[in-house]
Amino acid sequence: MTPPTGSPEGKLGTLDVDAYLADPLRKQAFVTPMFDIIAPRYDAFTRLFSLGMDAGWKRRAIAAAAAAAPGARTVLDLASGTGDVAAQLARALPHAAVTALDASPRMIDAARARLRTRDADVAARVTPVVGDMMALPQETATVDVVSASYGVRNVPDPVQCVREMARVVHPGGILVTLDFYQPGFGPWRALFLWYLSLAGNIVGWLWHRDPVVYGYIARSIRDFMTADAFSALLEREGFDVISESRALFGGIAQHVARRR
Ligand SMILES: C[S@@+](CC[C@H](N)C(=O)[O-])C[C@H]1O[C@@H](n2cnc3c(N)ncnc32)[C@H](O)[C@@H]1O
Repeated sequence: MTPPTGSPEGKLGTLDVDAYLADPLRKQAFVTPMFDIIAPRYDAFTRLFSLGMDAGWKRRAIAAAAAAAPGARTVLDLASGTGDVAAQLARALPHAAVTALDASPRMIDAARARLRTRDADVAARVTPVVGDMMALPQETATVDVVSASYGVRNVPDPVQCVREMARVVHPGGILVTLDFYQPGFGPWRALFLWYLSLAGNIVGWLWHRDPVVYGYIARSIRDFMTADAFSALLEREGFDVISESRALFGGIAQHVARRR
């Protein structure tokens, strides 16, 4: 994985961002250094950017996982970031060992720091690891619950990522995802992306003097799919979709699915 010339300490805004994001072979080389840059402020940014709504969306996703697989023992949280969801999954699933996997070493450092402090109560059952959700280290059919919040949209190849999720979850196991999607209704999609782009650019400039680090979110949604298309992808790759719950008129959706 070749990092872009702008290292985590450098400015990503000097790069041809669209060229990096349009090319699956180069997207990861932009995305991982970008998340390395924002890791220390990621939790605060998410709260601010979602106007506080993110916590509720995550709580609902975690409750859905606990309801669908209450006795889960092996849980894999992908694109785990600072480990927020992984820690909450560990609390909601008291028998589970949770692996918190992320491509960004600095996000994994932040997850480790969090497990030493505010999430110390579950630290013994949460293991943060650096890894690629398109090529998982887990053995086939060994996982009870696989989750990803705001994860699949960020990888160069979402289909390959869903294939990996389908490979590691055993038949009857559960997938829970939460992500941004393209709203289906054109005028709302335009307004939604405009807000995300503006707010992201402003916060990126104020916090990092680099608008692109958060302006990226709107770009990534523009290149992604609708929530319905994601349901169809899950069905194609071996899951039965149990529920697709939307917020913000399709701009956010939670999927719960069972491996066939
Ligand atoms: C928007 S953050 C989500 C963090 C966390 N799940 C949350 O909801 O707060 C997206 C995360 O995906 C990670 N990521 C991007 N590409 C990845 C890959 N190929 N494999 C694993 N993680 C990846 C990034 O490093 C980043 O931490």
